[in-house]
Amino acid sequence: MRRVSFALGVISWVCLMVSVSGIGANWGTQSSHPLPPTAVVQMLKENGFQKVKLFDAEEGTMSALRKSGLQVMVGLPNDMLATLATSMKAANNWVATNVSAYLNDGVDIRYVAVGNEPFLQTYNGSFLQTTFPALQNIQGALIKAGLGNRVKATVPLNADVYNSPTGRPSDGDFRADIRDFMLPIVKFLNDNGAAFTVNIYPFISLYTDSNFPVDYAFFEGSSSGVVDGSVTYSNMFDANLDTLLWALKKNGFPSLPVIVGEIGWPTDGDMNANVQLAQKFNQGFMNHISTGQGTPMRSGLIDAYLFSLIDEDEKSIQPGNFERHWGVYTYDGWPKYQLNLGTTRTGTLARVKNIQYLDKQWCVLKPSVNLENSKLAATISYACANADCTSLGYKTSCGDLDVRGNISYAFNSYYQKNDQDEVACGFENMATITNKDPSTGTCRFGIMIIADSGISWRIRHWGASLLSFVILPLFLTLL
Ligand SMILES: *[C@@H]1O[C@H](CO)[C@@H](O)[C@H](O)[C@H]1NC(C)=O
Ligand SMILES: *[C@@H]1O[C@H](CO)[C@@H](O)[C@H](O)[C@H]1NC(C)=O
Ligand SMILES: *[C@@H]1O[C@H](CO)[C@@H](O)[C@H](O)[C@H]1NC(C)=O
Repeated sequence: MRRVSFALGVISWVCLMVSVSGIGANWGTQSSHPLPPTAVVQMLKENGFQKVKLFDAEEGTMSALRKSGLQVMVGLPNDMLATLATSMKAANNWVATNVSAYLNDGVDIRYVAVGNEPFLQTYNGSFLQTTFPALQNIQGALIKAGLGNRVKATVPLNADVYNSPTGRPSDGDFRADIRDFMLPIVKFLNDNGAAFTVNIYPFISLYTDSNFPVDYAFFEGSSSGVVDGSVTYSNMFDANLDTLLWALKKNGFPSLPVIVGEIGWPTDGDMNANVQLAQKFNQGFMNHISTGQGTPMRSGLIDAYLFSLIDEDEKSIQPGNFERHWGVYTYDGWPKYQLNLGTTRTGTLARVKNIQYLDKQWCVLKPSVNLENSKLAATISYACANADCTSLGYKTSCGDLDVRGNISYAFNSYYQKNDQDEVACGFENMATITNKDPSTGTCRFGIMIIADSGISWRIRHWGASLLSFVILPLFLTLL
C-alpha cells in the first residue's frame, strides 16, 4: 500500500513535470542595464524553462547559453533581411558565425528566426520582397553547413497576417494584400520540415478596441464567445490560433506545425496593463496549455514562448507605453507575480540571483521649487525623453502621484539610468539627492542595477582616470 502510494506520487510528480512539455521565454535585451546573462540563464534553468527565443545572436547571451540544456531560437533582425536576401555569401557567413560556431560550443540551437514580424502593417511593406529570399538563403546555408536536419529557419509573424471576414475561425485565410507573399513562405516551411511561427496578443485587441469583451481575452470562460458551427470558442487565443490553422488547411497545409512565438500580457503603461491581469492571463494560458487538449482544430501540446522574460527600458514606445513592461520579471530580476509554470516542484518562480545595485539613493524635486518655474516643463520633457516615464499616466502603477511626485519620478528615472551620476541630478538646480525612498503603494522609484558586470560598470564610471592612473602604471610595473 505504501509502495503503491509512493509510486503514484512519483508518477503524478513526473506527470506534473512533463505535462507542459517545454514552455519557452522570449529574452530581449533592449535595456540600458541588462542583467548578467549567466544569472539569467541560471534563473531560466531553476524555473524549468526549456527554451529561449532571442532577437539577435549577441555574444554574451549566446555564451551564457553554452551547455545550459536550454533549446535556443536565435534571431536575425529585420534590418539584415535585405543583405541576406541578396547574398548567399552573407547567409553562409551568418550561419557560420551565429549558428555553427555556437553549436560546436554547446549551444543547443534548434531554430533561426528570420526577421521579427516583418509583415507588420506599420512597416508599410518594407520587408515584403526580402523576407522570403532571406528565409531561403538562411535555410540553404543551414543545409550547406550540414545542419539541415538539426536547425530550421522560420519567420515569426504577427497574427495580423491572417484574418476571418466573419470572425469565425473556419472562414480564416491569409490577409488578401499579402496572400501571394505568404503562400510561398508556408510551402517552403512545409517542404523543409520547419514550423510556422505566430505571435498572438489578446492584450493588443483590448488596447485597440474599447468594445472588445474583456473576459474573451482570458481563459476562464466568456459569455461573449464565438460560435463556429458545432464549436463555441470561449477565449480569443483558441479562436485566433484556429483561424491560422484553418487558413493553413485551406491552402493545402493541414499539418504544418505551429509555434506560438510570443504570448503574454504587460504590467504597466496602460489601464489594462497591471500585475493582476498579467498574472490572470499568463497563469490562465499555462493552465490552458498544460491540459494538452490543444484547440478545437488541433489537439495536443502547444509549443509556446512567453513574452517576455524581462522588462526592457529602451524599447520603442511607438506602439504604446506598455511596450517596456511585458516582462514576467522586473529589470532587476524579480518575478512581478506568482506564476506556476508546471515545471518545478514548488510551482513558484525563482528570482535572478546575485544582482548588484547602485547606492540606496534617489533624485527628487527640491521641495522649495515653485511649480510655476518656467524651466520645469523643459527639464521634465528632457528627463522623460532620455529615461522612462511610462509608469506615469492614467491607471498606471504611478498614476496616483501628484504633480511634484510626477516630476520627481522623471528626475529619478534619468538619474538612475545615468548610473546615479551627480551631474544627472542637476535639472537647473531644481533637483536633489535623497536617501529616503520616495516609492508609494504600487509606484516604485527604482534604484539602478550595476549593468552586466561590476567590472564593466566600474570601468565606465571611473573611465579613463582609472585606466591611466592605476591599471596602466600597474601593468607597466609588472612588465
Ligand atoms: C551575427 O549576429 C550578430 C548579432 O546579431 C550580428 O551583429 C553579426 O553581424 C552576425 N554575423 C554575421 C557574420 O552576419
Ligand atoms: C509608413 O507610411 C506612413 C504614411 O505614409 C509614414 O508616416 C511612416 O513613417 C511609414 N513607416 C515606415 C516604417 O516606413
Ligand atoms: C503625471 O504625468 C502623467 C504623464 O505625463 C500625466 O498623465 C498625469 O496627468 C500627471 N499627473 C499630475 C497630477 O500632474
